[in-house]
Amino acid sequence: MVKVTFLGHSAFLLEGSKRVLIDPWIEGNPQSPISIDQCKGADIYVVTHAHGDHGLDDAIKLAKSHGGTIVSIYEIAMEAGNRGVEKTVGANIGGFFEVDCVKIALTTAIHSSPIGAPTGVVVELDGKRIYHAGDTGVFYDMRLIGELYKPDLALLPIGGHFVMGPLEAAKAIELLGVKKVIPMHYETFPVLKGRPEELKELLRERGLDCEVIILKPGESYEL
Ligand code: NI
Ligand code: MN
Repeated sequence: MVKVTFLGHSAFLLEGSKRVLIDPWIEGNPQSPISIDQCKGADIYVVTHAHGDHGLDDAIKLAKSHGGTIVSIYEIAMEAGNRGVEKTVGANIGGFFEVDCVKIALTTAIHSSPIGAPTGVVVELDGKRIYHAGDTGVFYDMRLIGELYKPDLALLPIGGHFVMGPLEAAKAIELLGVKKVIPMHYETFPVLKGRPEELKELLRERGLDCEVIILKPGESYEL
């Protein structure tokens, strides 16, 4: 079993035999249910890209105070190393690699990043595969991500403006063929207008069989 806890915006904690924090933006995140001092850190921190709302600064802080490995695209991992993080794994969009017995693959994301290039990520923890799309628009190769990695759960942005809105996320779900989705990256700022109810309605209209799991910040889902 993997416990998936939503920490607001795009931040998630995956807990199984290891603890994996993805995009741990905590300080300054208006949705975060915890303060940075309350965060116990993780074995692995995955940062999908270097925009401030995806937690590179907090990942660096947490890795320095609690240990753990920062995993990201090569250039971001280098940056973390230069800023004093002891354990980093830089990778690129390719295939699975292993960090601390957790299988990780970085995936395409259609977005921008001040350092390196933006990514999504597939994490395989205790036999469960979780796809965190990062910040992205929809793209047809999501079908490839679905075919190759067969995620049990997808974490998809739905706020629009900088990322997919509900219309694009519904298409992403169709392309991925995924049966469980947790929406993210909405409501944090007024400009992120997409809502999970719209996504649910679009899935109903299209006859797509996918459970939309709506978590409030601090809530968990057991996969
Ligand atoms: Ni971004
Ligand atoms: Mn973002």
